[in-house]
Amino acid sequence: MTKDADLAKFLTRERHRVHLIGVAGSGMSGIAGLLLQLGHEVSGSDKLDSQETQRLQRLGLKFHRQHRAEDVQGTELVIYSSAITSENPILKDARENGKRTVRRAEGLAAIMSAKRGILIVGMHGKTTTSAMTAYVLREGGLHPSHYVGAEIPILGTNAHWDARGELFVAEGDESDGTIALFHPENTLVLNIEEEHLDFYADMAAIEKVFRQLLGQTTGKIFYCADEPNATRICGSSDRVICYGLSEKGDYRATDIDLRNFTSTFCVYRGKERLGEAVLNVPGEHNVRNALGVIALATELGVPFDKIAKALTKFQHARRRFEIKYDSPRFLLVDDYGHHPTEIKATLKTARSIGRKRVLTMFQPHRYSRTKLLRKEFGRAFDDADRVVITDVYGSNESPIPGVTGQMIADEIAAHGHRGVSYQPRLEWVHRDVGNMLDSGDLVLSLGAGNIHEQLSILAGDLVIAEKIKEIVAEDGDVRLYEPLSKHTTLRVGGPAQFWVEARNEKSFAELIRFCRNQHLPLFVVGRGSNLLVRDGGIRGVVVHPSGGEFDKIYIQDNEITAGVGAKLKEIAYAARGADLGGLEWMEGIPGAVGGALRMNAGAMGSQTFEKVVSVRYLDSDGNPHDKERDELEVHYRHFPLLERNFAVSATFQGKPDKREQIEARLHESQEKRRSTQPIAKSAGCIFKNPETCPAGKVVDELGLKNSTVGKARVSDVHGNFIVNDGGATATDMLELIDRIKKEARTKRGIELETEVQIVGEADAGSV
Ligand code: EPU
Repeated sequence: MTKDADLAKFLTRERHRVHLIGVAGSGMSGIAGLLLQLGHEVSGSDKLDSQETQRLQRLGLKFHRQHRAEDVQGTELVIYSSAITSENPILKDARENGKRTVRRAEGLAAIMSAKRGILIVGMHGKTTTSAMTAYVLREGGLHPSHYVGAEIPILGTNAHWDARGELFVAEGDESDGTIALFHPENTLVLNIEEEHLDFYADMAAIEKVFRQLLGQTTGKIFYCADEPNATRICGSSDRVICYGLSEKGDYRATDIDLRNFTSTFCVYRGKERLGEAVLNVPGEHNVRNALGVIALATELGVPFDKIAKALTKFQHARRRFEIKYDSPRFLLVDDYGHHPTEIKATLKTARSIGRKRVLTMFQPHRYSRTKLLRKEFGRAFDDADRVVITDVYGSNESPIPGVTGQMIADEIAAHGHRGVSYQPRLEWVHRDVGNMLDSGDLVLSLGAGNIHEQLSILAGDLVIAEKIKEIVAEDGDVRLYEPLSKHTTLRVGGPAQFWVEARNEKSFAELIRFCRNQHLPLFVVGRGSNLLVRDGGIRGVVVHPSGGEFDKIYIQDNEITAGVGAKLKEIAYAARGADLGGLEWMEGIPGAVGGALRMNAGAMGSQTFEKVVSVRYLDSDGNPHDKERDELEVHYRHFPLLERNFAVSATFQGKPDKREQIEARLHESQEKRRSTQPIAKSAGCIFKNPETCPAGKVVDELGLKNSTVGKARVSDVHGNFIVNDGGATATDMLELIDRIKKEARTKRGIELETEVQIVGEADAGSV
């Protein structure tokens, strides 16, 4: 008996103690499952545990979180993953003690040899096609066993041993040359391409391994006639059956209709029309894959109607065009594609679905592939409107200097793509893509690493954003991860998780109730003129009441009623138009009514609440209240009521006056502002005025004007202003504020208190 036959007998007809090193890996867990079903006593070690190891433990796996030889002393055979080095203590110990050790593929090949093997090989589409094959044969009543490289919900598990059937369907892994270990009855070759050049020297080396497998295939070889390399390498054998969309195929698909996620096509064997197939796995490439399965199953004797019925029911594997979120406005899809050919095919499918735009986030996989195929990657994204590239997922490789996501982004741009950007921080990718979103978009995450987690975050937030959109209705606006630097006069600050522009009191009230029920923080931003948002942004809902009734200003008799979104400057001018005085100072404050109320803003010796007649607000349950001035508690730069409630509008008292007098005071205010305040980007005065001395004067006297941290600088015009010289961060601003406070404390004994509202998360990755 040969060594291989020995191993096959050992694994499939006897019961032993077997240990798997690296058992949490997707391939290794499949072997563990098969061995448990074959009745072995199975143990496994891995530094990680996973859902798979937990499931296997329930089936009897003895799992160890460490690789320790003493844990597995009674083991008779050790199977190890290709990620395991010869330094692994269990592997080392087994070898030293003369125990048999085999690679994963050797174990699989031995198990398979006990049945009539069907091996599915190719660079792209193996998992889907091997799952489809197993499913069609199962529905055809043939009780196949199977082994595929991913969790397949419709098959139950990634590997299954069925003692009743003769067939065994397996996904071959060409990446390490181990497909040459198999001696299947039938081989299905989907495609052959230059890939895994970290292992193979060149195309010739790849071809050699495939040719060896074909030589060891005892029955028929099925290959795709639309694939030039597969045709060249397989075509010379006399036991071949080919399939494809072209006339050359022994099995052919015609009248292909690709619509949304369903493809319909006619199947011919030679001139004979077998019938119509409906496939619920999208894309033309999957029509080819299904055709390969049809050819194989037909040759194995499954009637076409059974095959067609099974294909209709088949659902693809996880991470293969997996729909993460689907609504009339948005479609989010995740795909494992990481080779340029796969990316092109997946994008073509995405495009054919017929949404308005296709936005893509791509994480290159392995440094070696990124480097070798960079030109091909540059040409792979033509079907995407926008592409965000993040950094390389190394897998088990060490970085190669200069090989980053930037390289791929540059290649895509050099190829002429206008919508590509690079985001080196993976945890920010969802923000970049989310902020681009517009109704009608399809978002696709691509890559074999962990980019799908970014899509999941986006999907989770989109569920909430869509509910909010219903609340604020057609005229309202909802945006994800809106940079708050765009909405503050200081031009710094991270993103708002949900940026909501509400246009009326009713939707504002409903939004308050929604946030309360969902335990979502709610924060109001008006004109953002007195606001310093930290670089981590604001978690939860940031509502910006603006437009519609929020911007309206009404004048009745001597009273002016304005919505919270109305600019103070406009109130000053509206008052002038009605010959009402006393509000001219509002001209010099860059904010709106909401902010002025919130902090009892002031200028030219006046304060907001000196002129307030009444305030309308919503409480934390969204109920409206109207309060007269004498019912309100107000302090210098502080109005406590709005800490937990939300202003809607306010009525101010004007005093009839002569137009010239009003004009003169407006002019005085403008002049004061022009001559004493900087025009650069700022948040107005940073500190409240201490009782003893105005803050600007303190800063000035301390000689701190023009002092800087990064791009934040104390204005040389007014000491109480910090200006953004372009590109300043909140961190710069806060450091400068701290420095000023410290100086004032130590040198002048003055405790400066900030007037500007400081909000948001310090940690950059938190929204
Ligand atoms: N001063 C200096 N050096 C400076 C800045 C000011 O010596 O670099 C002196 C001025 O000469 C003046 C005194 O400090 O004698 C006060 O300065 P200023 O008249 O400019 O007024 P302020 O108290 O600094 C207040 C408001 C401003 C408002 C102006 C104009 C506060 C904290 N600030 O400034 O409001 O525009 O009056 O009326 O109450 C804001 O709230 O964001 C804001 C800019």
